[in-house]
Amino acid sequence: MTANRENKIRKKKKEKGPKKPEPGITEPAERPASEDFSGEYILEAKDLVYEYGAGTPFRKLAVDHVSFGVRPGRITGIIGHTGSGKSTLVQMLNGLLSPKSGQVLYKGQDIGSDKKKLRELRFQIGLVFQYPEYQLFEETVKKDIAYGPTNMGLSAEEIEKRVLDAANFVGLESGLLDKSPFDLSGGQKRRVAIAGVLAMSPRVLILDEPASGLDPIGRRSIFDGLIRYRDDTGAAVVIVSHSMEDMARYAEEIVVLSEDRLLVSGSRDEVFSHAELLIENGLDIPDAARLAAALRARGMALPENLYTPEALAAALLPFLKGGRV
Ligand SMILES: Nc1ncnc2c1ncn2[C@@H]1O[C@H](COP(=O)(O)OP(=O)(O)O)[C@@H](O)[C@H]1O
Ligand SMILES: [Mg+2]
Repeated sequence: MTANRENKIRKKKKEKGPKKPEPGITEPAERPASEDFSGEYILEAKDLVYEYGAGTPFRKLAVDHVSFGVRPGRITGIIGHTGSGKSTLVQMLNGLLSPKSGQVLYKGQDIGSDKKKLRELRFQIGLVFQYPEYQLFEETVKKDIAYGPTNMGLSAEEIEKRVLDAANFVGLESGLLDKSPFDLSGGQKRRVAIAGVLAMSPRVLILDEPASGLDPIGRRSIFDGLIRYRDDTGAAVVIVSHSMEDMARYAEEIVVLSEDRLLVSGSRDEVFSHAELLIENGLDIPDAARLAAALRARGMALPENLYTPEALAAALLPFLKGGRV
């Protein structure tokens, strides 16, 4: 946890009464999850409909009556084929697009009800676009990351802290901060763009295909950074992806879209329990889950909920040791 955030949390705790934690002792309630919100969903999509080219012969329904909730402190994955409406949906979630009908509730309030408040709301509901590296434009990495916090009107000192914290979360070395973003590799540029949204400290962080086009090491490092951000801040993280394998590994809640509609949503276990429905819709299930199902069908007593190669390998180990395979 960063000094800045820690101070904030300590301050909050002090107000409530308990004494300051002893140095070196980790408190069980370290994660400030939902510190400022006690409802079940910090963000809720209610019956959202979006149509491109409304009123023209080219009108195209992109999101068709989609509802789901985002829990604070959780990683929610939105998955679906290309064209299933994921990007349109997440742009409605932070008010960039206005739904034709339906509502987006942030902490129970309709974000469309007061247009003047939308700008401020976008600091709290941060959206990282797909291929955000194409939107870098400042002379230095530091200035690029500082763009959001500067717009928020924060002090120079606070901006500096936020830039360093955000760079740290995404694994950018401090030596890169004074470079031009254009001199960086593709993966590093992606990190700068993500750090730019993290620096606003959003309570809901939404990322549209944050790992697309990166190699496995790059993907992993981005996801690990997002999980650290969630762990340290208690924010909700929403990740759009078309990779079932990534969702199986990282998402705790999953929303599945298929042709503009919601196919199924819920905890990862609930969603993967609908394997047939996913397969019928051409969505596949993780390789490990498929293999586990095939082994169960051959009589092997494997537990449910095996979605990653690591989990499957661990479950198979006792069988191998016992010579039963
Ligand atoms: N600017 C646009 N104008 C018209 N149709 C669009 C536009 N953007 C997306 N669409 C259409 O809306 C549907 C949903 O697109 P999108 O939200 O980008 O899906 P995804 O992110 O899942 O690939 C697709 O059929 C797409 O072709
Ligand atoms: Mg998209």
